[in-house]
Amino acid sequence: MNGEIYLDNGATTKPYDEVVDEMIEMLNTYYGNPSSLHTKGIEAENAINHTRKVIAGALEVRIDEIFFTSGGTEANNIAVQGCALANRKKGNHIIVSSIEHPSILNTYKHLEQDGYSVSYIDVDDKGIIDLNHFEREVRKETILVSIMHVNNEVGSIQPIASVKKVLQAKGCDAIYHVDAIQSFGKVYLNPKQIGIDVLTLSAHKLHGPKGVGAIYVKKGTHIRPIIFGGSQELDIRSGTENVAGIVGFGKAVEITFRNFEQNICKMRSLRDMLKKGIIQEIEDIIIHSAHDEESAPHILNISFVGIKAEVLLHALEANNIFVSTGSACSSNKPSPSHVLKAMKVSKVCIEGAIRFSVSTFNTPAEITYCIEQVAANVKQLRKYMRR
Ligand SMILES: Cc1ncc(COP(=O)(O)O)c(C=O)c1O
Repeated sequence: MNGEIYLDNGATTKPYDEVVDEMIEMLNTYYGNPSSLHTKGIEAENAINHTRKVIAGALEVRIDEIFFTSGGTEANNIAVQGCALANRKKGNHIIVSSIEHPSILNTYKHLEQDGYSVSYIDVDDKGIIDLNHFEREVRKETILVSIMHVNNEVGSIQPIASVKKVLQAKGCDAIYHVDAIQSFGKVYLNPKQIGIDVLTLSAHKLHGPKGVGAIYVKKGTHIRPIIFGGSQELDIRSGTENVAGIVGFGKAVEITFRNFEQNICKMRSLRDMLKKGIIQEIEDIIIHSAHDEESAPHILNISFVGIKAEVLLHALEANNIFVSTGSACSSNKPSPSHVLKAMKVSKVCIEGAIRFSVSTFNTPAEITYCIEQVAANVKQLRKYMRR
């Protein structure tokens, strides 16, 4: 098969052509600083406000509740540190799922060193949080709760509406933060309906550019800046905005949400085709991703028992197929996946886990080829392993 087969869309996505075109136009023509008072500044400001409107529209929130950041990691840091610091006088207890992205878990570890107490919520074997455990951890000193919407390694959808109901039932007014970086554009989400206070997004997961993110902060939420400077973005995130990147983000959201349902159906059918094919062709596998209603449409995490995932990854790469072992965002430091560990997957199975993640750019022919290649390579590698 000619060309590359990119199945690592949980790590990042290829930008839409229209995104690239608009960004080039912004860089060439509309290069003003959005804080400048002259026409060039106003053009740039209007351009970023257009994206603000597009994102607010997609989330069904107010335009003045959306702020731009330099990516998902920064948005999560602002959410976590900004809310924890602003509410320190009310209490020092925080609740978080044990399978959050490192940009959240490592920020909480840092806060623990500063005297905050953090409860980590267990998950089941499909990577879904234990609501009973969550309920037991809610206290009167709880000031902040962070639960991701979709897990980036296994694709599990968390019961974020039920989490809010537990908080309400227990009379807890903690700030509720949801990392929606893997779900935005892939799973329906309405933060106002659920009662989310702070929500974080990243452009490069939905065919936008890298290094651009956004944070939704419900009006009236107590949050403090953690970056100080020229007070851009209403002081939530100082620093000259990445105008071209933000415009690219807006375009990516427009295109994604124009065909929201069709995109989801396409990703789901490709993912299901891959899953079915692998089950049919290969023995001794363990599927870590949950079933349909509990799983995002784009992620499939599978352990090939007896195989080292990294070896399989490179064997597939030699056939122009690109996948991931666990999550690429944290694979600079190759350590066993904290998500699969929390799901109580055995060490050997964690070592054999591959994450396939599709996008609407993939085709059924690519999936057929991928199934053939995975089956052939697993068979071959197992032969060597058993010698
Ligand atoms: C769930 C989740 N949160 C946060 C991030 C970090 O986003 P960024 O790469 O924009 O810093 C990622 C990226 O993989 C993610 O999947």
